[in-house]
Amino acid sequence: MSTRRRLAAGNWKMNGTGADLAVATALAGRHPAPGCDILLCPPATLLSRMSQALEGSAIATGGQDCHAADSGAHTGDISAPMLRDAGAAYVIVGHSERRADHGESDAAVRAKAEAAMRHGLCAVVCLGETLAQREAGRTLEVIGTQLAGSVPDGADGDSLVVAYEPVWAIGTGKVPTLEQIGEVHDFIRARLEERFGAAAGGAVRLLYGGSVKPGNAAGIFAVSNVDGALVGGASLKAEDFSPIIEALEAAG
Ligand code: PGA
Repeated sequence: MSTRRRLAAGNWKMNGTGADLAVATALAGRHPAPGCDILLCPPATLLSRMSQALEGSAIATGGQDCHAADSGAHTGDISAPMLRDAGAAYVIVGHSERRADHGESDAAVRAKAEAAMRHGLCAVVCLGETLAQREAGRTLEVIGTQLAGSVPDGADGDSLVVAYEPVWAIGTGKVPTLEQIGEVHDFIRARLEERFGAAAGGAVRLLYGGSVKPGNAAGIFAVSNVDGALVGGASLKAEDFSPIIEALEAAG
């Protein structure tokens, strides 16, 4: 059995105002099973308030993006030290929506992940193929290229989480087969161990993301090298996210 801690991570994307902090406080009383971590990544406007609301609880908070620089003339951007200051322990980088909407390259994602690591944030680096790439049989090639280009040198189990999120599964209700998920996660694990060695590469947590729901979570968590999930839509309501957390706890 793996010694990696498992992680249920919620990505709220561009959703939520102050009224939605009640979702976080509804989860705050949870004491996750040993070996399980819970993370909520709200929009930047809520990060500080959510971190305060969750203080003393077992639930961590994270940003959804950060700039590669620590400060400077970058209107509208947020840096890793600012996220730390707002209470974050993690930051998502390279989500496919940012890669697509903001033209983020692997090199840009890597620079953001490096900024996160410099400031003691755990970087959740996202990778995923499009439907056209999967249908062309290019999934592992695409994932291998993204992984090599987006993950900084020196990463380990404390500084890095990798999320495999097929672009065609995000927000669509479509989910790869468990075999397809396992194939990609085993591939990512092998590449991480090759690059960082068995100890560091073996300690990095691998999340699956893309239409994870209460009804499919248990099956996904039973797949080899799946250490948890990055959950979008189903993390916006405590009654949807809670059963996903429970499925992760039961997967032990
Ligand atoms: P979804 O999003 O769960 O709504 O598909 C997942 C993600 O994009 O992180």
